Amino acid sequence: MSKVIAMAGKGGVGKTTVSALVTRYFTKHQKDPLLAIDADPNSNLGETLGLNIDKTVGDIREDFMKNPQGVPSGMDKIVYLEMLMNQVLIEQKTFDLLVMGRQEGQGCYCMVNNILNRFSDELEKNYSYLLVDNEAGMEHLSRRTSGKVDILLLVTDYALRGLRAVGRINEMLGDLKLEVRQKGLIVNRAPETLSKAFLDEVESIGVPIVCIIPEDKNLLEFDMERRSILEMEEDSPAVVAVHQMMEKVKEMIE
Ligand SMILES: Nc1ncnc2c1ncn2[C@@H]1O[C@H](COP(=O)(O)OP(=O)(O)O)[C@@H](O)[C@H]1O
Ligand SMILES: [Mg+2]
Repeated sequence: MSKVIAMAGKGGVGKTTVSALVTRYFTKHQKDPLLAIDADPNSNLGETLGLNIDKTVGDIREDFMKNPQGVPSGMDKIVYLEMLMNQVLIEQKTFDLLVMGRQEGQGCYCMVNNILNRFSDELEKNYSYLLVDNEAGMEHLSRRTSGKVDILLLVTDYALRGLRAVGRINEMLGDLKLEVRQKGLIVNRAPETLSKAFLDEVESIGVPIVCIIPEDKNLLEFDMERRSILEMEEDSPAVVAVHQMMEKVKEMIE
């Protein structure tokens, strides 16, 4: 079964950036098949990886619900939906990307959702690693049939608010149908030394720090110039930090 690495944390703390850096790690250092899943409706993992996204799983669901008669005559609707899903999958040399897009609106989407969920469950089997960039509620993760997450990486910036959001997510985990095997805290945009107040709060949450990422001005530049994080230099501070983290994470989830 594929190893699942998932991100969580409040908006703006760096989940997508870390996801892109983890993808970069895989493309350069770990050649196993990786499926990156952008499960945050407001997210832009594709963009940070330099990819153009024109259709999401949410779009397929929406189009289908608006026009259920659009299924070509003689074609089974399951086959049709699966064909559309295959078009949404972005295939790269070193990884594939699936963008979930918007969650459903009003109305009964159960049938379509079941088909789409079954398709992504089947798809996942083709990869050694799955990387999920989540929205705060982790809706996508709790929907998968195998509710297993090998490591949940909780991301915070260097602020008590981000850290408390992590604490809340951590407490909420028990309510989700999820088997989270390991957890690790990522402190992003961190100064050289973390204050005692911050570390005390970390301790009270009880999730061990697996990575400390400094402010990296190259990230700002890449963001402004819309360049792919995959092209960042090997010695850029954020790249170094996530690279080291992945060496550790791989051992943790072996
Ligand atoms: N370590 C860092 N140094 C500099 N800029 C960063 C760093 N981490 C994230 N950023 C920037 O912060 C912004 C928000 O990050 P993002 O990864 O989109 O957060 P999230 O996915 O959690 O909402 C982005 O513009 C990103 O380039
Ligand atoms: Mg994001």
